[in-house]
Amino acid sequence: MIGKDMFNDIDRVLISEDELTKIVKDLGAKISEDYKDKDLLLVSILKGSVIFMADLMREIKIPCNIDFMAVSSYGSGTKSSGVVKIIKDLDASIEGKDLLIVEDILDSGRTLNYIREILLARNPKSIKICTLFDKPERREVDLYADYIGSGVPNEFIVGYGLDYDEFYRNLPYIGVLKSSVYSE
Ligand code: IMP
Ligand code: MG
Repeated sequence: MIGKDMFNDIDRVLISEDELTKIVKDLGAKISEDYKDKDLLLVSILKGSVIFMADLMREIKIPCNIDFMAVSSYGSGTKSSGVVKIIKDLDASIEGKDLLIVEDILDSGRTLNYIREILLARNPKSIKICTLFDKPERREVDLYADYIGSGVPNEFIVGYGLDYDEFYRNLPYIGVLKSSVYSE
């Protein structure tokens, strides 16, 4: 990738920076209202949700805590390997907390399903899921998000934290990658 023009690998912009701002603002407002009497803990799933998390938490206008968890569900390709492994666990106990899992995109649902099971066993008061993007037609397990920023078509998207082979996370918008990039 060194010296390459990453913007040239994008087929088209799917969601602009302005649209992302609006989506995240609306989610933050809803969450602020729903959790105003709760002990909110935002759990960001690294690395894909890092930009979403940073923007979303600033649109949440009530007291909250944050924590991070890293799992691996994908290799370097665009398809799920089916293997989910904890790489970094949460720092603190979640007992009695109202957990809101912050995820970049729900695809097959396997990653979040697994994380949800692990966290449920630690006795939080509640667990809900907030995903920026949802690809419902790709679902392989029975899992629904409580907060969804936007549905997206069944195409591989990058930017705003989402990667292909660990690149393109720093694109400020959501773009569809040219298929020539991953067939190379
Ligand atoms: P799932 O377990 O199949 O739901 O996969 C969820 C994870 O796959 C997300 O957290 C992303 O890291 C990755 N993923 C799924 N679809 C895309 C995509 O279109 N672009 C980038 N990453 C994706
Ligand atoms: Mg990823």
